[in-house]
Amino acid sequence: MFKVTGVMISEEEIKSKVYEIAKRIEEDYKNEEDLLVVGILKGANIFVADLIRNINLDVNMDFMSVSSYGNGTESSGTVKIIKDLDVDIENKNVLIVEDIIDSGLTLSNLVAALKTRNPKSLKLCTLLDKPQRRTADIPVDYVGFVIEDKFIVGYGIDYAEKYRNLPYIGVVEDVQE
Ligand code: IMP
Ligand code: MG
Repeated sequence: MFKVTGVMISEEEIKSKVYEIAKRIEEDYKNEEDLLVVGILKGANIFVADLIRNINLDVNMDFMSVSSYGNGTESSGTVKIIKDLDVDIENKNVLIVEDIIDSGLTLSNLVAALKTRNPKSLKLCTLLDKPQRRTADIPVDYVGFVIEDKFIVGYGIDYAEKYRNLPYIGVVEDVQE
């Protein structure tokens, strides 16, 4: 039976890290005319909501929902867009916000797809990074926490659609009843 067995990152630690990332973003985009923050559903929803409230600039927000396929057998890999952006990103500054990067396949395919739309800039931000399982080499501009290879939940991230509402990042393990 799968259960949350511990706290990996507390609510307070998340809060101060989100603030820190927001201030870096603010500094990096302060001379730009626009910034579109694109959250990847569903996991990044809560992170995006907290992040943009700490960015003291004019920020637009949009969301995408994608599913990655092309694992193992298909090395090229594509991303299926389930919900696309509402806006045109040509000549816009786009910041993609993810909850967690694991293999990196989802993001690298998404970046390739969005680059064809000719944004002015395209950067990546993730709250959590699990570099041990990376197969797609993808440079991430803003990383909250580098974590070890454990299955985590909370703060928007699920296990079988559960635990998204936990205010902290917890570890899920298969425990005997
Ligand atoms: P990848 O980088 O393409 O392998 O996929 C990253 C996605 O896998 C994330 O956006 C999550 O939806 C999911 N994921 C990866 N690791 C975890 C985890 O530890 N808990 C919950 N979801 C995860
Ligand atoms: Mg995700």
